Amino acid sequence: MTQLSMKDTLKLADGNQLPQEGFGVYKLTDQDVMDQVINTAIEAGYRLFDTAQLYENEDLLGNSLQASELTRDQYFITTKVAENNQGYDKTITSVQKSLDLLKTDYVDLLLVHWPIHTEFFETWRAFEDLKAQGLAKSIGVSNFHQTHLQYLATKAHEMPVVNQIELHPYFSQPTMRAFDVSQNIVTQAWSPLGRGLELNDDIINGIATKLGKSSAQVILRWEIQNGIAVIPKSANPKRVVENASIYDFELSDEEMAAINSLNKNQRTGHDPELVYEQAHQ
Ligand code: A2P
Repeated sequence: MTQLSMKDTLKLADGNQLPQEGFGVYKLTDQDVMDQVINTAIEAGYRLFDTAQLYENEDLLGNSLQASELTRDQYFITTKVAENNQGYDKTITSVQKSLDLLKTDYVDLLLVHWPIHTEFFETWRAFEDLKAQGLAKSIGVSNFHQTHLQYLATKAHEMPVVNQIELHPYFSQPTMRAFDVSQNIVTQAWSPLGRGLELNDDIINGIATKLGKSSAQVILRWEIQNGIAVIPKSANPKRVVENASIYDFELSDEEMAAINSLNKNQRTGHDPELVYEQAHQ
């Protein structure tokens, strides 16, 4: 495969490469805005683009990427199967639709968006078949707890290579991360900036001021140095570039420890356990 960057690539358990930093397109629902930020992101070096059936923008992302200067093997697409599309047949049909919307023959990474107790194993069986057919190069999950992964392992023929979870300094998920590591699963952070909540944190601001960086850059750098993959999102081209400019400085052990200690187990999004039981986001 052509070298993907931004900036390090993490090796997945299936042998494929995952760019450690990618670009999230949640809430981008206007083609002009999508075109502008995707072009800016590509210029800034992003090569991974993360969408979902639920975002209702796969077609917009597909249009922007197709019109870009990159060839298909130079970028990485993630999409996620929505709760309503889970189950064997619906997963297969919905992924075929996603591929049409994205204007591609395959996605690099296909994720189960949220665990739900109905269709739990059937959805994963479809994922394994989609991978075998080459329609998804890698398969993984999102918002899975340790128990969901352990339950999946009782029937799976192959395990997820990525678990994309909410993760930011106030919700840094040390236990879940350690479990992912023990299973050779890469943890990828959604809302790596905590939806902006931590940008005014005194400790983070102090480190940012000392280093001449923004709080957002310090948070993303902290995640990268912790070995976590990140998909920051922004509709603002200046911030798209800012979030990519995190490779010219390093946080010290003390600075890393100070941010590690900010965890308050404070979510901004849904609790996966409730989604699991209620089967909707
Ligand atoms: P905007 O689109 O106006 O830039 P998360 O990825 O943690 O969910 O956070 C996304 C939010 O953080 C978005 O609302 C985005 O707003 C904002 N954001 C992204 N990058 C930055 C940045 N570098 N500085 C400040 N806010 C940012």
